[in-house]
Amino acid sequence: MITRIEIDGFKSFLDFQLDVPPFLALVGPNSSGKSNLFDALQYVRHAALRDEDPLLASRRGRPHELFHRVRKGTGVTRFDLRAHTLTQLGEGLLPNLYEAGAELGEDGLPESAEVRWSPPKDILNRLSPWMRDKYGDAVLELVRAAQLLPEEDVDAWRLSRRVVESEVGTWRLHQPDPDRLRGWSSAADHGPLRADGSNLASVLGRLSSRGAIEELLVDLVALIPDIAGIEPILDDRRQEWTFDVLVDGQGAIPSTLLSDGTLRVIALLAALHDPDHAGVLLIEEIENGLHPSRLAELLRRIQGRVTDLDDPECVNRPLRQVILTTHSPVVVSELYRLRPDALVFLDTAVRVDPEKDRISRVTVAKPVKSEAVLSLRRRRGEHRDRRLPIDLRPRQDDRRAARAGERLPPALRPQRPQGTGQGGPGRAGLGNAHTRDRAGAGSGDRGVAPRGRGRVAPVERERPRTAARPPSGRREDRGPQENTRRGGAAPRKTRS
Ligand SMILES: Nc1ncnc2c1ncn2[C@@H]1O[C@H](COP(=O)(O)OP(=O)(O)OP(=O)(O)O)[C@@H](O)[C@H]1O
Ligand SMILES: [Mg+2]
Repeated sequence: MITRIEIDGFKSFLDFQLDVPPFLALVGPNSSGKSNLFDALQYVRHAALRDEDPLLASRRGRPHELFHRVRKGTGVTRFDLRAHTLTQLGEGLLPNLYEAGAELGEDGLPESAEVRWSPPKDILNRLSPWMRDKYGDAVLELVRAAQLLPEEDVDAWRLSRRVVESEVGTWRLHQPDPDRLRGWSSAADHGPLRADGSNLASVLGRLSSRGAIEELLVDLVALIPDIAGIEPILDDRRQEWTFDVLVDGQGAIPSTLLSDGTLRVIALLAALHDPDHAGVLLIEEIENGLHPSRLAELLRRIQGRVTDLDDPECVNRPLRQVILTTHSPVVVSELYRLRPDALVFLDTAVRVDPEKDRISRVTVAKPVKSEAVLSLRRRRGEHRDRRLPIDLRPRQDDRRAARAGERLPPALRPQRPQGTGQGGPGRAGLGNAHTRDRAGAGSGDRGVAPRGRGRVAPVERERPRTAARPPSGRREDRGPQENTRRGGAAPRKTRS
């Protein structure tokens, strides 16, 4: 599970940091860097797994194009990526840090840097009893020095591989292509769902043999009530899987005839319910192909599947994390209501760095609603107002936007350029309130002139059909609904 990302010099990121909860939605305009963040994680993944040269494995951009491009001034000659993680090992969670990057050589050609990974110094205190019993103090050295492990120490090597594979090996992009979701796939495929979903039939076949398809079906029926079942079918001669979906009033519909949206929902649920391959799911534009009325329920289902780190029992279950990108106002408003801490707004800003004589456009991030804003709103009794004060449409009138900005919660107000004496040292910088809370004015010496998006505009909220609660029953999940009940409000009907 990824707990924090730090990116410097990669694509649209300069000195960027973001704390990552188990469930995170990245919202922001086109070209704001949402997919670039996934690219950065894919880079770390390839570097740590050493399955491919991460520079060459990049799905978007040639090796030299991955370095941050500046509009004016000194160019960037290296990039550094750091991913802080929590990995489940035995009965405990092992904190770890993966570092990867690349540098431009003297000949101007990029070379990937040696990947490093290391646990924090107090790792022994945090190790599970299982790890301590089995490997004792040696594990500290062993994990820290993963790159320098003595070849002869097979146990150490195995352990180090296990740590890497059970962490970065579980980071998976989810960007399904409906045409590929329809296809047959090999019975020999026991892997997780591929990014394009081309092995969906095999995954469903495996889920069915592991008894996990019923749970998936519960979520599926909640999202698409006409569905009555899924039947994976193995063709013995071809040794390939396909599947039918049982639809009320239509009987068994082969995967080839299913609608794109139905296939997408099944694929996402298959990835979320896979008992053999938990981990980090990086979902691109979750709303693609789905009717808005399905989205809110889908989010609640996802939330019920991701790990709750406040639950002590979470160490006994495979860790699940979902990081998604979205343009959907429904997703944003629903998360704003359910899990405001899960929303992060990405945008771009022009950064002026006089020290390095550099001007460039960079990605900036801020939580849509920080804890501070939440508690302020609670004190003011505003927590019942669940309308989302974000308008994702392009800005048309600066003055109107500025007036609207005054009505936004502080975390959402357009930032002023630094150096005007109005921003304050910890205010602009990276525009990253997650970081600001922790690191204070760490980057306040750079000038950032944000685009200043964000206007007050109530967004039509979708109402759930039922008062169904997420299965986890966590306190934060129940909050808003309990408030409503205490207030004596009758459950409202669906408004479509
Ligand atoms: N090497 C680079 N240096 C600076 N900026 C870059 C670099 N590579 C890509 N970018 C910027 O990143 C943008 C693409 O960002 P990304 O694909 O992450 O956007 P997005 O937020 O996912 O948008 P969408 O919602 O349209 O998918 C490009 O338009 C470009 O402006
Ligand atoms: Mg994108």
